[in-house]
Amino acid sequence: MTKLTTSAGAPVPSNDTTKTAGPRGPAMLDDYQLIEKLAHQNRERIPERVVHAKGWGAAGTFTVTHDISQYTCAKIFSKVGNSCDILSRWSTVAGELGAADAERDVRGFSVKFYTEDGNWDVVGNNTPIFFIRDGFKFPDFIRTQKRHPKTNLRSPEAMFDFWAAQPESIHQVTILMSDRGIPVNPMHMHGYGSHTFSMWNAQGERFWVKFHFRCQQPIRNYTNEQAEDLIGKTRESYQEDLYNAIEDGNFPKWELNIQVMPEAEAETLDFNPFDLTKVWSHKDYPLIPVGMLEFNENPENYFQYIENAAYSPSNKVPGIGFSPDKMLQARVFSYADAHRYRLGTHYEALPANAPKSEMHHYHKDGSMRFFPQVTGHPDAYYEPNQYGESAKPDATAAEPPLKISGDADKYVQEDSDADYVQPRALYKEVLGDDERARLHLNMARAMAPVSDSVRERWYAVLERVHPDYKAGVEQANQDLKSGNIDAYPGIPVTSDTPTTA
Ligand code: NDP
Ligand code: HEM
Repeated sequence: MTKLTTSAGAPVPSNDTTKTAGPRGPAMLDDYQLIEKLAHQNRERIPERVVHAKGWGAAGTFTVTHDISQYTCAKIFSKVGNSCDILSRWSTVAGELGAADAERDVRGFSVKFYTEDGNWDVVGNNTPIFFIRDGFKFPDFIRTQKRHPKTNLRSPEAMFDFWAAQPESIHQVTILMSDRGIPVNPMHMHGYGSHTFSMWNAQGERFWVKFHFRCQQPIRNYTNEQAEDLIGKTRESYQEDLYNAIEDGNFPKWELNIQVMPEAEAETLDFNPFDLTKVWSHKDYPLIPVGMLEFNENPENYFQYIENAAYSPSNKVPGIGFSPDKMLQARVFSYADAHRYRLGTHYEALPANAPKSEMHHYHKDGSMRFFPQVTGHPDAYYEPNQYGESAKPDATAAEPPLKISGDADKYVQEDSDADYVQPRALYKEVLGDDERARLHLNMARAMAPVSDSVRERWYAVLERVHPDYKAGVEQANQDLKSGNIDAYPGIPVTSDTPTTA
């Protein structure tokens, strides 16, 4: 028998009966284990993530399959066959911790690579672009996605009001309202680093890079009706599908690909390659395969590994860097700040976040200081110091200098025709007739409660993408009002569509 103990290790005689003064009570204050048990329960919740609160995670392995050492000196990519442990978390953006899984929303797609040179995090989404391109707007944007202060309900009026004022959002809103706005579960969607990042090679040459996680399972999505049916039966369909697939040995896989642009080329393009509302066309920048991610382990404890996971775009390793994208810089600050608040000062010492490589830093005390501090010499608790064997910076890890120019100012990126080119290509060239029809209906439904003034402003944005887009959503709006939607096509259910409920 495993003996129950206190958290201080002493055997516990009883775990269900309060010590009382006489058989009818009252309780004795010296029943410390009662107090301890109640006090612990009161501290079981930590703040949920301010965005992406609802998530599902798994652990696995990343293996390099192609040589990209011409672009990067990152050790993980130094040899085909190299591998490392990975931990992923997929999420919805707007819902709280208890939100239903199969809701229409962008999905987060985070991967932590535990490399021999430390942790490299890609904290992306299942969309290659984003609603906005300036981090200054992020808190306002998220406010429109969360609950209204008075009604405490989500507010389509606020969402479309904000989007209509930021027409560059139409690219992302089109994806959100398309079939890919409700993946059947995390195993049937692509992932994207979304921002432009950089790599540098052993010769110090820099390349601009985009990361793509290409799903090795078929892309599968639900219509609103299918999702509503499912949510009526289970709110946890993603957790169930993912957990069960891994327990059954059906390990989901993604292929990591990169798009690469030589550093100097960024100056010659007719679009800003650091604008997060734009993709790089596959025709101009073909996908280059890099390696395979396989998720084969459900963490033993969800809270310990998935709720406690701290992903941050600031976690990078030598050979991989940022880009001038100003949204990315805002994120580089924001995540670690969120982690100190959500998890505590030394959050990186938690099992989910601790590197699997050697770690020697001089951050000293504070809450959660439960790890040994190994700096190479017992008296080296500061740096620089006289102890030759103590941890010292390694200049070879430095990124090559980045040439920048211009006057410091607040540069407003005005709405321009260029913002409509890519959504137009998506709408007219990528989507088929049935997908367009579903997009119209999904958007009309999402907009149903908004005021006429917001509706007209949003229609004007759709018209700039393509007159058919505006006409299609207007028509769907009429069809919704008259209940005439039977002719709209559904998404065919195939034999490998998960049937959770
Ligand atoms: P391609 O035809 O080479 O690529 C089209 C891409 O669109 C494919 O990756 C496809 O995914 C993806 N796609 C299909 N349906 C949807 C949808 N409903 N929502 C989001 N993505 C979808 O063309 P280009 O590279 O020239 O890009 C054309 C347009 O495609 C872009 O303007 C952009 O809107 C969109 N797109 C481009 C991506 C890129 O990185 N270049 C990535 C994703 C979308 P799949 O391979 O699974 O069919
Ligand atoms: C989570 C901030 C843009 C993807 C978070 C969190 C914060 C945040 C504070 C919670 C972190 C935590 O508590 O662990 C921001 C800011 C942004 C921004 C300030 C813009 C300036 C983006 C973009 C993407 C993205 C553009 C995708 C391309 C994610 C994901 C998570 C997340 C996937 C969940 C990470 C996890 O699984 O733990 N974001 N975000 N965010 N964000 Fe962002």
